[in-house]
Amino acid sequence: MTEKVKKNKTIKAWVHRQLNDVYVKDAKKDGFRSRAAYKLLEFDENDGIFHNVKSVVDLGCAPGSWSQMAMRKIGESGKIVGVDLLEMHPIYGVEFIQGDFTEQETLDRLLQAIDHKKVDLVISDMAPNLSGIKTADQVRGAYLVELVLDFASGYLKVGGNCLIKVFHGSEFDSLVKTAREMFQQVLIRKPDASRSSSSETYLLCKHKKQNMV
Ligand SMILES: C[S@@+](CC[C@H](N)C(=O)[O-])C[C@H]1O[C@@H](n2cnc3c(N)ncnc32)[C@H](O)[C@@H]1O
Repeated sequence: MTEKVKKNKTIKAWVHRQLNDVYVKDAKKDGFRSRAAYKLLEFDENDGIFHNVKSVVDLGCAPGSWSQMAMRKIGESGKIVGVDLLEMHPIYGVEFIQGDFTEQETLDRLLQAIDHKKVDLVISDMAPNLSGIKTADQVRGAYLVELVLDFASGYLKVGGNCLIKVFHGSEFDSLVKTAREMFQQVLIRKPDASRSSSSETYLLCKHKKQNMV
Protein backbone atom coordinates (compact mmCIF):
# COMPACT_ATOMS: atom_id res chain seq x y z
CA MET A 1 0.00 0.00 0.00
CA THR A 2 1.38 3.44 -0.92
CA GLU A 3 1.81 6.17 1.71
CA LYS A 4 -0.99 8.19 0.04
CA VAL A 5 -3.47 5.30 0.20
CA LYS A 6 -2.51 4.68 3.83
CA LYS A 7 -3.03 8.36 4.69
CA ASN A 8 -6.42 8.46 2.95
CA LYS A 9 -7.52 5.37 4.88
CA THR A 10 -6.46 6.99 8.16
CA ILE A 11 -8.39 10.16 7.32
CA LYS A 12 -11.48 8.12 6.36
CA ALA A 13 -11.28 6.17 9.63
CA TRP A 14 -10.98 9.45 11.57
CA VAL A 15 -14.02 10.96 9.80
CA HIS A 16 -16.03 7.78 10.38
CA ARG A 17 -15.08 7.76 14.06
CA GLN A 18 -15.93 11.46 14.51
CA LEU A 19 -19.33 11.05 12.84
CA ASN A 20 -20.23 8.13 15.09
CA ASP A 21 -18.70 9.37 18.32
CA VAL A 22 -21.37 10.13 20.90
CA TYR A 23 -19.09 12.59 22.76
CA VAL A 24 -18.39 14.53 19.56
CA LYS A 25 -22.15 14.80 19.01
CA ASP A 26 -22.72 15.90 22.62
CA ALA A 27 -19.94 18.49 22.40
CA LYS A 28 -21.61 20.05 19.36
CA LYS A 29 -25.00 20.02 21.05
CA ASP A 30 -23.72 21.43 24.35
CA GLY A 31 -21.49 24.08 22.78
CA PHE A 32 -18.12 22.67 23.80
CA ARG A 33 -15.10 23.05 21.55
CA SER A 34 -14.09 19.42 21.89
CA ARG A 35 -15.22 16.08 23.26
CA ALA A 36 -12.50 16.39 25.95
CA ALA A 37 -15.01 18.39 28.00
CA TYR A 38 -16.72 15.14 29.00
CA LYS A 39 -13.55 13.71 30.53
CA LEU A 40 -13.44 16.63 32.91
CA LEU A 41 -17.18 16.40 33.54
CA GLU A 42 -16.72 12.76 34.51
CA PHE A 43 -14.04 13.71 37.05
CA ASP A 44 -16.39 16.27 38.50
CA GLU A 45 -19.35 13.90 38.65
CA ASN A 46 -17.32 11.11 40.26
CA ASP A 47 -14.88 13.06 42.39
CA GLY A 48 -16.32 16.56 42.69
CA ILE A 49 -13.14 18.23 41.50
CA PHE A 50 -14.85 21.63 41.18
CA HIS A 51 -16.33 21.47 44.67
CA ASN A 52 -15.55 24.78 46.45
CA VAL A 53 -13.16 25.77 43.65
CA LYS A 54 -12.80 29.45 42.85
CA SER A 55 -9.50 29.50 40.96
CA VAL A 56 -8.22 27.17 38.25
CA VAL A 57 -5.06 26.90 36.15
CA ASP A 58 -5.68 24.96 32.92
CA LEU A 59 -2.42 23.84 31.29
CA GLY A 60 -2.58 22.84 27.63
CA CYS A 61 -6.01 24.45 27.39
CA ALA A 62 -6.56 24.81 23.61
CA PRO A 63 -9.00 24.55 21.90
CA GLY A 64 -10.67 25.29 25.23
CA SER A 65 -13.30 22.77 26.25
CA TRP A 66 -11.84 22.23 29.74
CA SER A 67 -11.73 25.98 30.31
CA GLN A 68 -15.32 26.22 29.06
CA MET A 69 -16.34 23.50 31.50
CA ALA A 70 -14.41 25.18 34.34
CA MET A 71 -16.18 28.45 33.56
CA ARG A 72 -19.58 26.75 33.64
CA LYS A 73 -18.72 25.05 36.93
CA ILE A 74 -17.20 27.92 38.88
CA GLY A 75 -18.92 30.89 37.28
CA GLU A 76 -17.92 34.46 36.58
CA SER A 77 -16.81 35.26 40.09
CA GLY A 78 -14.02 32.68 39.82
CA LYS A 79 -10.63 32.98 38.17
CA ILE A 80 -9.49 30.74 35.32
CA VAL A 81 -6.13 31.05 33.62
CA GLY A 82 -5.30 28.86 30.63
CA VAL A 83 -1.93 28.27 28.97
CA ASP A 84 -1.21 26.75 25.57
CA LEU A 85 1.42 26.74 22.87
CA LEU A 86 -1.33 27.27 20.33
CA GLU A 87 -3.63 30.21 19.88
CA MET A 88 -7.05 29.91 21.45
CA HIS A 89 -10.21 31.79 20.57
CA PRO A 90 -11.21 33.82 23.60
CA ILE A 91 -13.54 32.34 26.19
CA TYR A 92 -15.49 34.80 28.27
CA GLY A 93 -14.04 34.86 31.79
CA VAL A 94 -10.88 32.93 30.92
CA GLU A 95 -7.50 34.65 30.87
CA PHE A 96 -5.37 33.03 28.20
CA ILE A 97 -1.59 32.97 27.94
CA GLN A 98 -0.08 31.72 24.71
CA GLY A 99 3.31 30.17 25.41
CA ASP A 100 5.33 27.08 26.12
CA PHE A 101 4.81 25.91 29.68
CA THR A 102 8.36 24.53 29.73
CA GLU A 103 9.73 28.06 29.32
CA GLN A 104 10.44 30.40 32.22
CA GLU A 105 8.89 33.35 30.40
CA THR A 106 5.52 31.56 30.17
CA LEU A 107 5.69 30.56 33.82
CA ASP A 108 6.43 34.17 34.78
CA ARG A 109 3.37 35.35 32.82
CA LEU A 110 1.25 32.68 34.47
CA LEU A 111 2.44 33.69 37.94
CA GLN A 112 1.64 37.28 37.15
CA ALA A 113 -1.85 36.27 36.00
CA ILE A 114 -2.52 34.51 39.30
CA ASP A 115 -0.91 37.37 41.29
CA HIS A 116 1.64 34.84 42.63
CA LYS A 117 -1.21 33.44 44.74
CA LYS A 118 -2.00 29.76 45.21
CA VAL A 119 -4.97 28.37 43.27
CA ASP A 120 -7.65 25.82 44.20
CA LEU A 121 -7.28 23.48 41.22
CA VAL A 122 -4.64 22.69 38.60
CA ILE A 123 -5.66 20.72 35.52
CA SER A 124 -3.29 19.66 32.76
CA ASP A 125 -4.28 18.00 29.52
CA MET A 126 -0.91 18.76 27.93
CA ALA A 127 0.41 16.24 25.47
CA PRO A 128 3.70 16.72 23.65
CA ASN A 129 3.76 16.77 19.87
CA LEU A 130 4.78 13.26 19.00
CA SER A 131 8.05 12.73 17.12
CA GLY A 132 7.33 9.04 16.53
CA ILE A 133 10.41 8.06 18.52
CA LYS A 134 8.77 6.22 21.39
CA THR A 135 11.34 6.70 24.14
CA ALA A 136 11.92 10.38 23.30
CA ASP A 137 8.15 11.02 23.29
CA GLN A 138 7.78 9.26 26.64
CA VAL A 139 10.54 11.36 28.19
CA ARG A 140 9.02 14.60 26.87
CA GLY A 141 5.58 13.62 28.13
CA ALA A 142 6.99 12.74 31.55
CA TYR A 143 8.86 16.03 31.71
CA LEU A 144 5.58 17.93 31.23
CA VAL A 145 4.02 15.97 34.09
CA GLU A 146 7.03 16.73 36.32
CA LEU A 147 6.69 20.42 35.55
CA VAL A 148 2.99 20.35 36.40
CA LEU A 149 3.72 18.67 39.74
CA ASP A 150 6.44 21.21 40.38
CA PHE A 151 4.01 24.05 39.63
CA ALA A 152 1.44 22.43 41.93
CA SER A 153 4.00 22.13 44.72
CA GLY A 154 4.45 25.90 44.65
CA TYR A 155 1.10 27.28 43.54
CA LEU A 156 -1.66 24.84 44.52
CA LYS A 157 -3.31 25.41 47.88
CA VAL A 158 -2.88 22.85 50.62
CA GLY A 159 -5.87 20.50 50.33
CA GLY A 160 -6.22 21.35 46.62
CA ASN A 161 -6.54 18.87 43.77
CA CYS A 162 -4.57 18.42 40.57
CA LEU A 163 -5.59 16.47 37.49
CA ILE A 164 -2.84 15.55 35.03
CA LYS A 165 -2.83 13.68 31.75
CA VAL A 166 -0.07 11.12 31.67
CA PHE A 167 0.97 8.53 29.11
CA HIS A 168 2.08 5.06 30.08
CA GLY A 169 5.82 4.61 29.72
CA SER A 170 8.97 3.88 31.63
CA GLU A 171 8.62 7.04 33.76
CA PHE A 172 5.04 6.33 34.81
CA ASP A 173 5.74 4.65 38.17
CA SER A 174 8.19 7.29 39.26
CA LEU A 175 5.70 10.07 38.39
CA VAL A 176 3.01 8.34 40.44
CA LYS A 177 5.49 7.98 43.32
CA THR A 178 6.32 11.71 43.23
CA ALA A 179 2.62 12.57 43.13
CA ARG A 180 1.96 10.28 46.12
CA GLU A 181 4.60 12.10 48.13
CA MET A 182 2.78 15.37 47.49
CA PHE A 183 -0.89 14.35 47.76
CA GLN A 184 -2.91 12.34 50.26
CA GLN A 185 -4.44 10.26 47.50
CA VAL A 186 -3.48 9.64 43.88
CA LEU A 187 -5.91 7.79 41.65
CA ILE A 188 -5.07 6.50 38.19
CA ARG A 189 -8.13 6.92 36.01
CA LYS A 190 -9.15 6.53 32.41
CA PRO A 191 -12.48 8.28 31.89
CA ASP A 192 -15.10 6.70 29.62
CA ALA A 193 -14.74 9.68 27.29
CA SER A 194 -11.05 8.86 26.75
CA ARG A 195 -10.67 6.78 23.61
CA SER A 196 -9.64 3.21 24.33
CA SER A 197 -7.16 3.46 21.46
CA SER A 198 -5.29 6.21 23.33
CA SER A 199 -2.64 5.31 25.89
CA GLU A 200 -3.52 8.40 27.92
CA THR A 201 -4.61 8.07 31.50
CA TYR A 202 -5.06 10.70 34.17
CA LEU A 203 -3.58 11.11 37.60
CA LEU A 204 -6.18 12.52 39.89
CA CYS A 205 -4.10 13.89 42.76
CA LYS A 206 -6.34 14.70 45.72
CA HIS A 207 -5.71 16.85 48.77
CA LYS A 208 -2.25 18.36 48.57
CA LYS A 209 -0.34 17.62 51.75
CA GLN A 210 0.49 20.23 54.34
CA ASN A 211 4.23 19.81 54.30
CA MET A 212 4.67 20.83 50.66
CA VAL A 213 6.15 24.27 49.83
C1 LIG B 1 -5.31 17.43 24.14
S1 LIG B 1 -5.00 19.11 23.89
C2 LIG B 1 -5.88 19.85 25.19
C3 LIG B 1 -7.37 19.87 25.01
C4 LIG B 1 -8.05 20.77 26.03
N1 LIG B 1 -8.01 20.19 27.37
C5 LIG B 1 -9.50 21.00 25.70
O1 LIG B 1 -10.35 20.51 26.42
O2 LIG B 1 -9.78 21.70 24.72
C6 LIG B 1 -3.34 19.25 24.44
C7 LIG B 1 -2.80 20.67 24.35
O3 LIG B 1 -1.55 20.72 25.05
C8 LIG B 1 -0.80 21.75 24.45
N2 LIG B 1 0.61 21.66 24.86
C9 LIG B 1 1.47 20.64 24.64
N3 LIG B 1 2.68 20.94 25.12
C10 LIG B 1 2.58 22.19 25.67
C11 LIG B 1 3.51 23.05 26.32
N4 LIG B 1 4.79 22.69 26.48
N5 LIG B 1 3.09 24.24 26.75
C12 LIG B 1 1.78 24.62 26.56
N6 LIG B 1 0.86 23.84 25.96
C13 LIG B 1 1.26 22.64 25.51
C14 LIG B 1 -1.02 21.50 22.95
O4 LIG B 1 -0.72 22.65 22.21
C15 LIG B 1 -2.50 21.12 22.92
O5 LIG B 1 -3.31 22.22 22.58
